[in-house]
Amino acid sequence: GLRTLFDYLGFCLEQVVKDNELGALTEALEGKYVLPGPGGDPIRNPDVLPTGRNLHALDPQAIPTGAAMQAAQGVVDRLIERQKIDNGGEYPETIALVLWGTDNIKTYGESLAQVLWFLGVRPMPDALGRVNKLELMSLEELGRPRIDVLVNCSGVFRDLFLNQINLLDRAVKMCAEADEPDEMNFVRKHAKEQAEEAGISVRDAATRVFSNASGSYSSNISLAVENSSWSDEEQLQEMYLSRKSFAFNSDKPGAGMTENRDSFERALKTVEASFQNLDSSEISLTDVSHYFDSDPTKLAEKFSGKKVSSYVADTTTANAQVRTLAETTRLDARTKLLNPKWYEGNLSAGYEGAREIQKRLQNTLGWSATSGQVDNWVYEEANDVFMADPEMQKRLMDMNPNSFRKMVATFLEANGRGYWDTSDENLDRLRELYVEVEDKIEGVE
Ligand code: BEZ
Ligand code: MG
Repeated sequence: GLRTLFDYLGFCLEQVVKDNELGALTEALEGKYVLPGPGGDPIRNPDVLPTGRNLHALDPQAIPTGAAMQAAQGVVDRLIERQKIDNGGEYPETIALVLWGTDNIKTYGESLAQVLWFLGVRPMPDALGRVNKLELMSLEELGRPRIDVLVNCSGVFRDLFLNQINLLDRAVKMCAEADEPDEMNFVRKHAKEQAEEAGISVRDAATRVFSNASGSYSSNISLAVENSSWSDEEQLQEMYLSRKSFAFNSDKPGAGMTENRDSFERALKTVEASFQNLDSSEISLTDVSHYFDSDPTKLAEKFSGKKVSSYVADTTTANAQVRTLAETTRLDARTKLLNPKWYEGNLSAGYEGAREIQKRLQNTLGWSATSGQVDNWVYEEANDVFMADPEMQKRLMDMNPNSFRKMVATFLEANGRGYWDTSDENLDRLRELYVEVEDKIEGVE
């Protein structure tokens, strides 16, 4: 047993250190054949190594796989259990999920499979493993109500997986049309209410799969936050609504994504929890702006008129965890922005390292804006580390005055927008630092 394991690990090590990138690039440029290999996360799938091959993804029709369904069941069960603990034992009626394309490549469709588990619908692969058929699980087998979903697909997901989007829409419609009691089928319950409210059929009311318009990506909340160019949260939410309320309709093949903001808004009203996945240890919540860009938490609160729970699944290891978003933003702050090993490592890289720190702080503010799930102490401690310490001030200012100026501005912005409550002393220092770094950038002595 151990022998086999160590042999395999030895093999993996060889693959990791194979220095094949430049070699393969020159061969490609010379018009030679470059060996193909799968792309993805080396921890999930060591076969992606060695790098420097002509990488390919997967057959988009072959997901979710059986393994992805199995992994997704664990995550969905944990999320439901957690939500019940925090909500007096009640099942959530609607979960708003975020689906990314790259994640579903790396996980062979785990988030796609999560949607199917909430609904209680089973994919039925053909002999070649292609998933084009679905089957409703019985309520006895499911052992709980079918939970309604609001599926927010990234533009990349839409581009890669239109067939699976079709599948999800059909799954939702199957649930809405199943002759089952409302208390055991929240999709049907909501679709009937929505049909009544809108004067449309139950089938049309069961519209849950949304993305951007063709050719369009992102809610652009990330850009607004990066530029500090937004007036209030309402404006950010309006961006999400106007850009990400394009629905897929399996009854209109070939129509693509069609603007359907009414259905999107009606679906938001029943949302009780939002949910997205962290599938790789390579990037986490504050490493990139795209996670909060996709986050519909406060948007759902606006329409439901209630507090909306928010969860993040960490599926980076075999034993997947489901944490609240608040727990995850804390964990992220502790492991990155506030972790001396992390920021000293970055600072040792110089100019760009300072920018990395600045980006994490900015993305933290993004989470405050879309979800409100960032604790005050995160800003307070970050201010202690990067602003209150004269030596650190000087290092940042010398290393990258532009990033330092942005950091100072982000702290002031966090306070101004009500995300960080702090002392007048801290605010006065920030204002002075702003003037100082501006003078430095402009060459004023
Ligand atoms: C995606 O894979 O869906 C994705 C990639 C980058 C940013 C946002 C989404
Ligand atoms: Mg997108």
